[in-house]
Amino acid sequence: MIPNSLLAGILFLGSVFASPLSDQRPLGHEALSSTADADIANTAGSQRGLSGRFLHITDLHPDRLYKNGASTSDDVSCHRGEGRAGYFGAEGTECDAPLALINETFRWIENNLKGEIDFVIWTGDSARHDNDLKNPRTPDEVISLNEFIADKFVDAFKRPEAPHTLSIPVIPTLGNNDIMPHNILADGPNKWTKHYLDVWTRFIPEHQRHSFVEGGWFTSEVIPNQLAVISLNTMYFFDSNSAVDGCADKSEPGYEHMEWLRVQLKILRSRGMKAILIGHVPPARTSSKQNWDETCWQKYTLWVHQYRDVVVGSAYGHMNIDHFMLQDSRKIEIVDDFEASSSDIPAKGLSDRVGVQSRSEYLSSLRKDWSQMPSPPDDLSIMEELMGESPPGSETPSKISKKKRKKFYKKIGGPWAERYSVSLVSPSLVPNYFPTLRVVEYNITGLEGVATWAENSSDLSQERSHETDDGFIDDNFADEETPENSGKKKKKKKKPNFKVPEPPSPSAPPGPAYSNQPLTWLNYTQYFANLTRIYEELAELEQSTNTTNQFIEESDEEIYKDLFSFEVEYDTKDHIYKMDDLTVRSFFKLATRAADNFADGSEGEEADSDDDDDDDDDDGSTVTKKKNLVWRAFLERAFVKYMSYDELDDIE
Ligand SMILES: *[C@@H]1O[C@H](CO)[C@@H](O)[C@H](O)[C@H]1NC(C)=O
Ligand SMILES: *[C@@H]1O[C@H](CO)[C@@H](O)[C@H](O)[C@H]1NC(C)=O
Ligand SMILES: *[C@@H]1O[C@H](CO)[C@@H](O)[C@H](O)[C@H]1NC(C)=O
Ligand SMILES: *[C@@H]1O[C@H](CO)[C@@H](O)[C@H](O)[C@H]1NC(C)=O
Ligand SMILES: *[C@@H]1O[C@H](CO)[C@@H](O)[C@H](O)[C@H]1NC(C)=O
Ligand SMILES: *[C@@H]1O[C@H](CO)[C@@H](O)[C@H](O)[C@H]1NC(C)=O
Repeated sequence: MIPNSLLAGILFLGSVFASPLSDQRPLGHEALSSTADADIANTAGSQRGLSGRFLHITDLHPDRLYKNGASTSDDVSCHRGEGRAGYFGAEGTECDAPLALINETFRWIENNLKGEIDFVIWTGDSARHDNDLKNPRTPDEVISLNEFIADKFVDAFKRPEAPHTLSIPVIPTLGNNDIMPHNILADGPNKWTKHYLDVWTRFIPEHQRHSFVEGGWFTSEVIPNQLAVISLNTMYFFDSNSAVDGCADKSEPGYEHMEWLRVQLKILRSRGMKAILIGHVPPARTSSKQNWDETCWQKYTLWVHQYRDVVVGSAYGHMNIDHFMLQDSRKIEIVDDFEASSSDIPAKGLSDRVGVQSRSEYLSSLRKDWSQMPSPPDDLSIMEELMGESPPGSETPSKISKKKRKKFYKKIGGPWAERYSVSLVSPSLVPNYFPTLRVVEYNITGLEGVATWAENSSDLSQERSHETDDGFIDDNFADEETPENSGKKKKKKKKPNFKVPEPPSPSAPPGPAYSNQPLTWLNYTQYFANLTRIYEELAELEQSTNTTNQFIEESDEEIYKDLFSFEVEYDTKDHIYKMDDLTVRSFFKLATRAADNFADGSEGEEADSDDDDDDDDDDGSTVTKKKNLVWRAFLERAFVKYMSYDELDDIE
């Protein structure tokens, strides 16, 4: 890194940085052409109407011990020694995030996203890792780092007229590093749920406070009477939490959590509302990795399948790599009605290994699972036809293709692929690769006039304080049938000791996760801060500037700040992913495209050989190796484009 003194002269190059932030306005021309509205929204501190976007930020890992210029080796974690730890973080390492990165990230969010988004989901791990033996964490430090981040959100989204209140809702969730010892959280109420009730007091609706202390879970109505975000406490599902044991036993908090979730979804269905599920640890389940206790995965998959008319989507963090996973309802083995297709036992106990190696294994196993999903008839072009709403200029399909289509639909749960549900994982802000965050756009057609959270936030807390207070033991909603007829089927499965959620009414149209309608997720844009570029620019300035003068350090900070910004990494509508929207069948399609290994001789989407700029095919063996462009892009994006494809080339 550059010594502070070297930067002194840079101060005078102010014009170089004339307006880096306004040049980087991320939300496209449409959003910005209505600058008048945006200005009004900003000055009023609350929005007029919805903008149809939300921010997903995760795994910030602030670290007050981080030292600019320290060693990045694992034993010192950028706390000591000398090395390449940069001012905004040590990209491509396991070091945590310096406060400078946190501060500049929130400054960027305030400058670029405030007034442009409707709510924030913040999926945990807002304290440093406990990985420095010389500086073990303390509970006070963990809480204080979380308070620091909570204050940052309030600061970024405060209403000018009332600086202690928020203009949009922010929904946090507990990460496995937000507690001590990490991963371990016992049944509530406990000191951690009580602490976080305080830390998150501005984010947890009044009437949810009781339920939050019980289990660290809560619901926030981010668009009153339309959309709720359900913050799951995945610590009770997490296989590495040795203080609890899954979701099957009535005495376990995981069981209680699932009961609570079922009731929330039932209430939302009865009110005609939709839900976004968020959590820290995602329900990863492949042959190389399983994050959740299997009993929790089983219930979760059953719940989201039965409430597929309610759940809009699910978003998680923790893994630090950008990817998604499909939950297959035919893997549900806890109820008779669902035929589990196989008894593949997922892997256990690999949960906490990090690093590119194990992440690569995991991604390979995801791809393997995708390649075993039902394949569309013949080839991708027919699949495009099947999955398209109404193929332009298409003729009436022949009887054969009609039959094939029917067969394929049967395998994937109908034209909307309702056999599956999807969980999205955003990569981290902490620069294991590059710092990154995600803006999701959703459909607000027909929601133009609805009341927003800002307009109604105070009303809501009063209005419903008596209604759903004890959601998870609400007798009004404890009227679902347990399947009594299971004996008839002569299967040796046990009768479930829990209430099986009712499926959507047969007349209900497919939900927003399955067909594009109000609240459906349409696309997302992944932003990243290219620390390599930022540090190179600093180095260039160092060379072109006379640095013999000494200035106060504050001016250096200004210079650093002006160089920092996020830029677009990719978006889901781009020329590679080409996703029409973020519905389940769009992800099914993407997964199928990424998994295609051209084994059937189809052309697929391999890279053009002229595109291949590297000449190291000379050794012969790989000359004719086809590359699947979608898989290649998926891998690059998994690691936030920090690694070149050559480094990832071996991941099959
Ligand atoms: C970050 O912001 C906090 C205030 O929120 C301030 O106290 C701290 O000095 C800042 N740190 C850096 C490195 O900018
Ligand atoms: C929102 O608040 C306004 C004014 O306080 C009220 O008229 C309206 O009915 C409220 N809407 C909802 C959905 O609560
Ligand atoms: C939103 O959903 C409606 C259907 O309710 C659809 O007509 C419209 O095209 C969707 N909007 C976008 C931007 O996809
Ligand atoms: C996301 O989809 C909406 C609606 O189709 C569109 O207006 C917007 O430009 C898209 N954003 C990106 C980044 O593609
Ligand atoms: C990041 O910046 C470096 C240096 O400017 C550049 O070579 C690299 O391509 C950039 N990475 C991405 C993903 O844009
Ligand atoms: C830098 O400044 C010193 C004295 O202030 C001067 O002697 C030297 O020539 C300058 N170097 C450049 C490259 O401008």
